[in-house]
Order: sequence, then structure tokens, then C-alpha cells
Amino acid sequence: NRPQPLKGKKVVVTAGPTRERIDPVRFLTNFSSGKMGYSMAEAAVRLGAETVLVSGPVSLPVPAGVQIVPVESAEDMFNAVLAEFDDADLVIKTAAVADYRPKTAHGKKMKKQESGQTLELERTVDILKELGERKTHQLLIGFAAETNDVETYARGKLHKKNADYIIANDVTEKDAGFNTDSNRVTLYGKNSFEQTFPLLPKTELAEQLLTAILEKEDAYDR
Ligand code: PMT
Repeated sequence: NRPQPLKGKKVVVTAGPTRERIDPVRFLTNFSSGKMGYSMAEAAVRLGAETVLVSGPVSLPVPAGVQIVPVESAEDMFNAVLAEFDDADLVIKTAAVADYRPKTAHGKKMKKQESGQTLELERTVDILKELGERKTHQLLIGFAAETNDVETYARGKLHKKNADYIIANDVTEKDAGFNTDSNRVTLYGKNSFEQTFPLLPKTELAEQLLTAILEKEDAYDR
């Protein structure tokens, strides 16, 4: 009988990329496979949580015991997370949300232009930042995908987005980051809290991350 420190708690995890439509056959996206987020959701279930997984388009099986909410765009993801936010205890934003979307999503397939084509982009909603402004009792955990100055950017996101923790990965490292089975991360929290994890399979890392956060939060006594 393993300990279930998240029993009675609701955990909302986001995973995967988002797709921002250009026209009916084209979209902007990124290399997120969903593996890290799905591993976080699986770990939350193992630790006893009622787990909702808001997932962008990925090709992974839904982990047992998880309530899945499939979404496509950043806007869809924002709405789905907001609908689950009020009674959530922990929100884990693993998704690689597109930062920009085409200003116009064309209703018909765009025709080839001899002279090339310019795509005008606009910002998507920053879901983590919005949640940081709205949170009451929720513990908010973000990820940060960086290629340089990892600590500076991770701490910047912790502060700017009012998150409780940021899990940072250097996505230029071998076997870490996007579309790998393993990852190497550092967990950053308030008051200079910092814990570095070795290269681990995402499944194992996810459980270690949740356990470390729960320990830091004093077995989640909120
Ligand atoms: O899915 P995998 O292939 O397993 O890859 C895992 C991963 C590399 C995607 C994952 O480990 C990871 O780093 N996820 C966060 C990716 C990301 O978008 O990082 P960011 O630094 O751009 O964003 C920081 C945080 O703000 C993230 O929690 C992100 O979910 C959130 N965000 C970003 C933009 C936006 N518009 N809304 C957001 O909520």
C-alpha cells in the first residue's frame, strides 16, 4: 500500500502542443509530444488525486484513471482549464502553448501566391499568467522550456506569472525536453528554493517532482 498524499485533492494537468489554425488544412504548432504532461497526470493518479488532463493534440494513450479533456488551440485550452480551476488544488501547466496565432484564420484554403506569403501573428492568451492572477488557494506549477540562461528565465517566469513552482528544462540538452522519453529538470520555488534532478525517464521524474513539491509544501497541508 503506497502512500496517497494527493487523496481527496483535484489536480489539473495540461499537456502537449496547441494548434493555431491558419486555414482549414494548415496550422502553427511545436514539437511537444505530450509525454511529460501525460507522465505528470499518471503520477498524480498514482499519488491518489482526482486528475483532469487537458491535452492538446498528441498520439498517446490516455492514462488509466485520468479524466481527459481534448483541446486544440491556446484559447480552447484556456477555457478548458478555467472550467476546472475553481475547485482544483494543484494546477500543472506542462503544455507547450503557442505564444502566437495567425491574426486571421482563413475559412477557405489559402491559394499559393507567386510572390510568397506573409503571415500576420498575434499573441495568444498566457494561460499560466491568467491563472496566477486568479488563484486563491490553488498551487500553481508551471514549466519553462529554455535554451539559455535557464535559471534567470525560470525565476523570471515564477515571478511574472505568480506561480508557486517552475520546472525548467534546458531543451538543448541531449535526451531532455521535447519529444524524448527522458528529461532533466530543475525545480524552482519561492525564497530561492531550488532542486535539481538527474536525467530520468519522464514517468519516474514526474513522480519525483510531485513528491518533492508535496514535501516542500509539508505533505500538502493547505
Ligand atoms: O511534451 P513533451 O514532448 O514531453 O515535452 C515536454 C516539454 C518540453 C513541452 C515540457 O517539459 C515543457 O517544458 N513544457 C513547457 C513548454 C513551454 O511552453 O514553456 P514556456 O517557457 O514557453 O512557457 C512557460 C509556462 O507558461 C509553461 O507552463 C506554459 O504552459 C505556460 N504558457 C505559455 C504560453 C502561453 N500562452 N500560456 C501558458 O500558459
